[in-house]
Amino acid sequence: MTRYGKGADVVWFECEPTYILHTVNAYEEDDCIIAYAYKQLNPLPSVPAGTSRVKIQNYFLSYHITQPRLTEYRFNLKTGEASERIINGSCAESPGINSAYLGIKNRYSYNALVPEIPFFLHNGIQKFDYQKMRETDRYILPEGKFMQQPVFAPRADSKDEDDGYLIAYVGDKKETEVYIWDAKKVSEGPIARVQLPQWVPFGSHAYWGRGSDIREAQERNQRNKTAP
Ligand SMILES: [Fe+2]
Repeated sequence: MTRYGKGADVVWFECEPTYILHTVNAYEEDDCIIAYAYKQLNPLPSVPAGTSRVKIQNYFLSYHITQPRLTEYRFNLKTGEASERIINGSCAESPGINSAYLGIKNRYSYNALVPEIPFFLHNGIQKFDYQKMRETDRYILPEGKFMQQPVFAPRADSKDEDDGYLIAYVGDKKETEVYIWDAKKVSEGPIARVQLPQWVPFGSHAYWGRGSDIREAQERNQRNKTAP
């Protein structure tokens, strides 16, 4: 739909049926909306007969089974045409980007790689460059460690889109740490690791906000609450 449009302005595009759990970004370019998302190659896994109800969900949540791939969608608002193409062969999901680029053209995303075990876990980061349309860096965690979505935190006064840090929960079944990488040198490994006092369940999301922005929002909320 057009920006600030109403329900009647919704335009439908037809794509190949799939299921998308997480998206990367979407923005307007010429007559098109371009969107990047993780399309599942196997969105309806076959579950063996007799599988207990509680375990059925594991088939739909296991990235190793649903096989998400980074996909480019183009929706032409003038012609009504839609096209899609898989742009990378790695099985990955839970992408993070520099949130200053949400809704505008971004160059990088940091995608969480899927290991060869059937579970809802990630074992590394793939840095993907949308200008070169290929992976330009990657880091694989030590054996037995799993991570969640990498969150991008810009360096103070940063200019480049990837001038900053990637932050992610990393852990196993017992304990959780926070790893911090230099987003320009992901393959060099974490530059800091922080042990958390609490185990964090897998599948959690997080967000990086600048302290000044958060304080400003808190003050705005407070003013709205006390407004007559
Ligand atoms: Fe999610």
